[in-house]
Amino acid sequence: MHLVTLKNWTETDILDTVESGIHIKNYPEKYWHAVGEKSLALLFQKTSTRTRCAGEIGIAQLGGHAHYLDWRATNFGLADLGDEIRVLSAYVDVILARFLKHTDIATAAEVAEVPIINGCCDRYHPTQALGDLLTIQENFGRLEGVKVCFIGVHNNVCNSLIAAGMKVGLEVTVVAPEVNPAAEDKALWEAAERRGTYRYFRTGFHRRKAIAESDVVYTDTWIDMEFFTEPSFAEERERRLEKMMPYQLNAELLDGYDCRIMHCLPAHRGYEIAGELLDDERSLIFQQSENRLHSMKAILLKVLSKD
Ligand code: CP
Ligand code: NVA
Repeated sequence: MHLVTLKNWTETDILDTVESGIHIKNYPEKYWHAVGEKSLALLFQKTSTRTRCAGEIGIAQLGGHAHYLDWRATNFGLADLGDEIRVLSAYVDVILARFLKHTDIATAAEVAEVPIINGCCDRYHPTQALGDLLTIQENFGRLEGVKVCFIGVHNNVCNSLIAAGMKVGLEVTVVAPEVNPAAEDKALWEAAERRGTYRYFRTGFHRRKAIAESDVVYTDTWIDMEFFTEPSFAEERERRLEKMMPYQLNAELLDGYDCRIMHCLPAHRGYEIAGELLDDERSLIFQQSENRLHSMKAILLKVLSKD
């Protein structure tokens, strides 16, 4: 099976993976040979710390082997994506790919003869959401009914939380005056709204009320990584930073609230989150990033399983 988006994973797929990730975290030695001699290719068109390391280290800890490919050092850029993926899928047993465009990861999944894992595209970040569910399950002992307030730009990370949430009953409120155009997924948002697990406030007017009602407050970068140093995005970057500053998570905004704080990282201290909050006693952020490794191992086992 592929993991391109959580939209086509079932509640059972998601819950099994979360439970398996917790078991792997608690008993890593039981999984040292869990995948046998399998090989994972990591094909990255964008930078990464957590996703790449979770994949490379995760497969090694399961007894397999990782092969990292920086897109720019391959012939993917010269050739037809489908041709190159077919070649790669003849060499390895599973592919973790971080492409710029969602359409490319979807194409890869259509042609690959091995499982494809989406390591974050412009529309979704499913491995992040599965890791986050593990962290929420560990801290709250449940997923159903846990309330997450995502404050920032409506993006790939919150889309995957919404997609997972609607399967497992996790309630996601998004407070976001901006939507990343590539992350606009009205079909997902409407389905999650009908399920009663998603609300969207386009202004910050309700943000204190949303925080007060939430168990977790979550934020992410206001600008996706590929645009940070992109000259053609410079003007938009300045516009966003100015517009988004009132939405920063900081001690003053969270004063008096007993919510947990999450961020997928990398954090831009002083922008979407004040640096002091990363080490706040309510912060789960570094536990969350560690859990990417345990969760990635569970994802690899899941997609490599025969069922
Ligand atoms: N959260 C996350 O995916 O981090 P990386 O971009 O470092 O992989
Ligand atoms: N949403 C951000 C962070 C993902 C880890 C991005 O896509 O760059």
